Amino acid sequence: MNSKKISIAIDGPAGSGKSTIAKEVALKFGYTYIDTGAMYRAITFKALRENICLTDEQQLTQLANHISIVLVYEPLIDGTQLHVIMDGSDVSEEIRSIEVTNNVSVVAAVSGVREAMVLLQQKMALTGGVVMDGRDIGTVVLPQAELKIFLTASVTERSKRRWLELKEKGIMVELQELEEQIRQRDYLDSHREISPLCQAKQAILLDTTSLTIDQVVTKVIELACTKGAQFDNYLMNKYR
Ligand code: CDP
Repeated sequence: MNSKKISIAIDGPAGSGKSTIAKEVALKFGYTYIDTGAMYRAITFKALRENICLTDEQQLTQLANHISIVLVYEPLIDGTQLHVIMDGSDVSEEIRSIEVTNNVSVVAAVSGVREAMVLLQQKMALTGGVVMDGRDIGTVVLPQAELKIFLTASVTERSKRRWLELKEKGIMVELQELEEQIRQRDYLDSHREISPLCQAKQAILLDTTSLTIDQVVTKVIELACTKGAQFDNYLMNKYR
């Protein structure tokens, strides 16, 4: 059968559930999952490690133009783990540190950094059959995507989710402090000059505040099917 491979763009603020939903949807259709936030995190991690001043746009651009980032998502081998390989090393854990989280929005606002990353992301999506999540996917990276979703949830709910996620990893932070960090990141991401976080015109808004993960996944899958996506039964049978 001739199956059509579509592109699915999922945008939204921190903690709205993008990566959880995107991974599940990618698995269902046998698509490639691309976490663009992980790419901005990798650059930020490298910049911090190399003591690059985060206001030095020229150096950050230089770094973005020479970095190698490979995303590996193999649910049959690794479950839901996404591996982020930067310059040949697995930095999946390091890029989730609080230091990276607190600085990534500044690095991601640099135009040269964005230009380099958008090109890389567009190359990754050339074959179709991708679920890509981020802040500017439906608006800038894949404006032609067949399905665009804008996921959101209240700040309180998103902070709670992030708090639980960190707790499961053994990292204890004050909920209030986390909420403050998320508000700050939301503000920076939505008010930057280049490609700010905003809902693309054709994007479908899903407020996940009172929805379960399964409910959101089901909804996105239904929408994708209406756009021509077809299930990957082989992958589903192997994984479950
Ligand atoms: O997972 P979380 O919601 O914490 O954020 P992320 O998806 O890992 O993205 C981290 C940061 O990268 C965001 O706060 C943005 O500043 C930036 N980002 C971006 O500017 N454009 C994207 N397409 C994806 C992420």
